[in-house]
Amino acid sequence: MALNPHDILDMLATRGPAQYGREAVSQLEHALQCAQLAEQAGEAPATVVAALLHDLGHLLAPAPKAPSAPDTPQAQDDLHQYLALPFLRPAFPDAVLEPIRLHVDAKRYLCAVDPGYWDTLSPASKHSLELQGGVYSVAEAARFADQPLAQEAVRLRRYDDLAKVPGLPTPDLAHYAAVLQAVALPRADAAVGAGTAG
Ligand SMILES: [Fe+2]
Repeated sequence: MALNPHDILDMLATRGPAQYGREAVSQLEHALQCAQLAEQAGEAPATVVAALLHDLGHLLAPAPKAPSAPDTPQAQDDLHQYLALPFLRPAFPDAVLEPIRLHVDAKRYLCAVDPGYWDTLSPASKHSLELQGGVYSVAEAARFADQPLAQEAVRLRRYDDLAKVPGLPTPDLAHYAAVLQAVALPRADAAVGAGTAG
């Protein structure tokens, strides 16, 4: 099933208030903070949209059969960076999709090339790094950096890491409806506007 921009905003508004893993903010707060950081940094609209939607896979993942306690460590890699791509591909260009696809690998890359980066990660993010394959080798880091839009993914990763501040004011979802519309592929943007959740 393809998601149009209106579906996406609706999903963020209805499912986004759920807690973001073991972090102190909700999925929606995390998405809005990440998009705000990208916007404040002067990123292109496609990168702002990627920041807003980078964790949509968490909202699309099937609910666990028995909900675990919020402080229970994740037991396996959820591969959330890939889950949203089939839903988003009909509606958005690679400039949105690739930074989303690469934002987990960007953490593995930054740990390899930026001394001190690992220390900045939250405990939950350090834990998931191991499940995601751990720090890249020199050769793996070079291969990562060679990919189109890898640097956008690295910048998105840095916004992602910072977008976990409890209570931080951000624009609401309605603010990003226009950005989604501007970036969406021509046939995908027809539904934006009517009924957009705030
Ligand atoms: Fe994230």
